[in-house]
Amino acid sequence: MARILTPTMDFRGSHIISVKQFSRDDVETVFDVAGSMEPYAQRLKLTRALEGAILGNMFFEPSTRTRLSFGCAFNLLGGDVRETTDVKTTSISKGESLYDTARVISGYSDVIVMRHPQIGSVAEFAKASRVPVINGGDGANEHPSQALLDLYTIKKELQSNDKLIDGMNIAMVGDLRHGRTVHSLSQLLVLYNRITFKLISPKELRMPEDIVSLLKNAGHTVIETEDMESGLNDNDTVYLTRIQEERFTTKLEANVYRGRFRLNKEIYTMNCQPNTVIMHPLPRDSREEANELDHDLNQHPNLAIFRQTDNGVLVRMALFALILDVVDTVDKTAKKVGWYTQSRFESS
Ligand code: NCD
Repeated sequence: MARILTPTMDFRGSHIISVKQFSRDDVETVFDVAGSMEPYAQRLKLTRALEGAILGNMFFEPSTRTRLSFGCAFNLLGGDVRETTDVKTTSISKGESLYDTARVISGYSDVIVMRHPQIGSVAEFAKASRVPVINGGDGANEHPSQALLDLYTIKKELQSNDKLIDGMNIAMVGDLRHGRTVHSLSQLLVLYNRITFKLISPKELRMPEDIVSLLKNAGHTVIETEDMESGLNDNDTVYLTRIQEERFTTKLEANVYRGRFRLNKEIYTMNCQPNTVIMHPLPRDSREEANELDHDLNQHPNLAIFRQTDNGVLVRMALFALILDVVDTVDKTAKKVGWYTQSRFESS
């Protein structure tokens, strides 16, 4: 099974609320276990390691890939999933407190994933929960599992270009003020060495000052700019984000920024290195007036967005296996699949 480093964190029974909980060894532990999940995610083998366990997948904000990939990850480990998909269909809309909801749902579940629009809500929920809680995104604050899957993807993509995370240049583009994925990814990258961050955004949507200071104090180079062309120059990775219109007071206010920074084939070819990896947490806003990552790059070999989503399943399986302490049971309960599986992972 996976080579397990000596993590500083005891994953067993832990809440995962923020990337600040992780040391570099902890991150590597997650990555090692994630790598060992590949045959299960690719349907080459089946495991019943989490047979009988129930995931409470509590989503109080829109989600497609985070909710489904957490659910699939749990199913792939042999567990069952119960879920809510929005606030309107839960008793939170009748005025129930997060405390009561947490007490109740943690009686039904063995682990909970929660997404909620309020900053700090998942931490508050976790305090009342009787089982481990994973933050699936709390407002504009954090999205730790996304940061882990993003970094896992960066590591793999750079490895195939003979490069390392240490010493890399990364451009982050778009709504850096409200984007929880870039908040968590930056804070995870603090753990690595000599990274150059090019933060490309309108000045009103700059990366929060405390995160910029954290990066600088850790010895990284931070260049903040509103100029897309110069910012795109000389990067190993470019990470685009959507204008988070749901975080603005009005849609009109968000519209001011939509479509300001776009990457398409022409801009990429003119400004990026031939092997610059293109990433986006998704969803990309494909409406014409926004279109921050153009479909004309869909066939580009450096477009890693769908490898990111595939990797999300592996990383989420790893988190469940570590938290519920079944890393060693996965292989022991493994069987060959008995049904036809298509090798859809070869060309992604
Ligand atoms: C992101 C999120 O919800 O923060 N999506 C995701 O989980 N992959 C990014 C976004 O919504 O723009």
